[in-house]
Amino acid sequence: MADHVVIAIDGPAASGKGTLARKLADHFGLNHLDTGLTYRAVAKALLNAQIPLDDIAAAETAARTLSLSSLDTLSLSTHSVGEAASKIALMPSVRRALVEKQRAFAAMPPGAVLDGRDIGTVVCPDAAVKLYVTASAPVRAKRRWQEIVNAGGTADYDEILADIERRDARDMNRKDSPLRPAIDALLLDTSEMDIETAFSTACSMVKEALAEGNG
Ligand code: C5P
Repeated sequence: MADHVVIAIDGPAASGKGTLARKLADHFGLNHLDTGLTYRAVAKALLNAQIPLDDIAAAETAARTLSLSSLDTLSLSTHSVGEAASKIALMPSVRRALVEKQRAFAAMPPGAVLDGRDIGTVVCPDAAVKLYVTASAPVRAKRRWQEIVNAGGTADYDEILADIERRDARDMNRKDSPLRPAIDALLLDTSEMDIETAFSTACSMVKEALAEGNG
């Protein structure tokens, strides 16, 4: 493997990209950043301070002062924080501030796996490998529903599906850095795969792409 490797993973909510990114980072001995957490942290800072989510100046300040070492996955993983994140993610000045931090993270040795919506297209366009991980909306909704039920909660499948479709539309249709596969991204549709199959498929795709890049 080259000295410094960056792997970019993009895809819609609940596609399995986060789990894949974490497992790939472990497997290849790379750092990992879930960039969704950076948007969530900015949104949570505003929610905590009871600042309206359309206050661009406050959101930009929160983005500029964010420390990547203080991202707390558990408190950032709630549904309301995710919804708020996809609203502040529409703001170009917030995106610029966060992209700068994400690039600095990717530049740290020995390299990193970053997952999000615009990693292959905007954050790390020169990444050695780009994966676009997707699954049909009903499959993603079913996975989310199952996660909640497994954790002892109750959830309405139709509401989750509607929510996923709304989030997809917002992420794919925004002007700045919309969710879409980079032109050189490898597509991985996990609709028919369990996580182990998705991981072994992703692993082979990464190894092959790295070998081609070195050859
Ligand atoms: O992936 P996650 O659900 O944690 O992301 C929350 C929201 O943050 C997404 O719906 C999206 O609007 C935004 N986001 C983004 N660009 C990224 C990562 C997340 O716009 N690279």
